[in-house]
Amino acid sequence: MSKHTVAVLKGDGIGPEIVESAVSVLKRVGELFGTEFELRYAEIGGSAIDRFGDPLPDETLKICLDSEAVLLGAVGGPKWDDLPTDKRPEKGLLRIRKELDLYANLRPAKVWEPLISASPLREEIVRGTDMLVVRELTGDVYYGEPRGIFEEDGKKVGINTMKYTEDEIRRVVRKAFEIAKLRSKKLTSVDKSNVLEVSGLWRDIVEKEKANFPEVEVEHLYVDNCAMQVVRRPSSFDVIVTGNIFGDIISDEAGVVVGSLGMLPSASIGDRYALYEPVHGSAPDIAGQGIANPIATILSTAMMLKYSFGMGEAHNLIERSVEGVLEDGLRTPDIYSEGCKKVGTEEMTEAIIQKLGELK
Ligand code: IPM
Ligand code: MG
Repeated sequence: MSKHTVAVLKGDGIGPEIVESAVSVLKRVGELFGTEFELRYAEIGGSAIDRFGDPLPDETLKICLDSEAVLLGAVGGPKWDDLPTDKRPEKGLLRIRKELDLYANLRPAKVWEPLISASPLREEIVRGTDMLVVRELTGDVYYGEPRGIFEEDGKKVGINTMKYTEDEIRRVVRKAFEIAKLRSKKLTSVDKSNVLEVSGLWRDIVEKEKANFPEVEVEHLYVDNCAMQVVRRPSSFDVIVTGNIFGDIISDEAGVVVGSLGMLPSASIGDRYALYEPVHGSAPDIAGQGIANPIATILSTAMMLKYSFGMGEAHNLIERSVEGVLEDGLRTPDIYSEGCKKVGTEEMTEAIIQKLGELK
């Protein structure tokens, strides 16, 4: 029997509930495909601050470095909101991305036909949308130095630095080209090269890399224009590649265009490690009520099976099962519409697990 090791970090808010759901799905997949998953639990975010005084304790990092993949719920909550930026739960997330060198963040946003009415856009605009945002994840203003609040002439100034080396740009751009080649062979590179030098460098590198991928059609968009086009013509996009901060914003936008944030998975990939987490946050307002939508985390687990363990068939089975329960009319409150059956986290999870067996 094949065996894989997974570090499981539940985090805060709804994190524990949705991760439990994803773990039950993973276990069922293990039975169906004759694979064993060794799960290693560790703390991250606010819960780690409470127990160890550190949003990413050494022990957690070690477990992640020793595992083939990491499954993460979500971090953060009002309890830790007053802490300085450097001590907040989010810092745990930023550190783990950096420590594992997870430079490519893959955020697929596709419209699920049974949920098409959940999009704030008209059906004819959103129908067929299936894009993938490849967001650089270890550079940009998120990590650039100098950073901080300083004093100049007796006045406070806030400073962050947008910085990318050519190697950092090239590796994520290459990854995006490789992915585009396997999809619809269309790549949109997003920058702000009419204003920023960093973006000028970014655009040059995309142009150079293009020569290595002649089959991929390349489009360059300024980020403001891209934000507009994603709402005007979402179905025309395939792969979008961009830097950390622009990708943070565009991926939220892409998410809302296709319906619910509760449905969006992500994979953060480096050359050695990979981490899988839902795009949504820890939703402290609904934590512990058993009503959170587990689908984004379940689909993130599906991405793990495909990208980390080469289990493409299991990935597709999970996607088809999710689609199946949606077709059956099951909805958690965040995606509920009239005439459907409202269910909680557990019932949704059970239904998906049931479908896995039926559709295998
Ligand atoms: C995301 C989030 C994080 C980010 C926050 C929580 C630090 O918004 O994963 O998109 O900005 O990267
Ligand atoms: Mg974000």
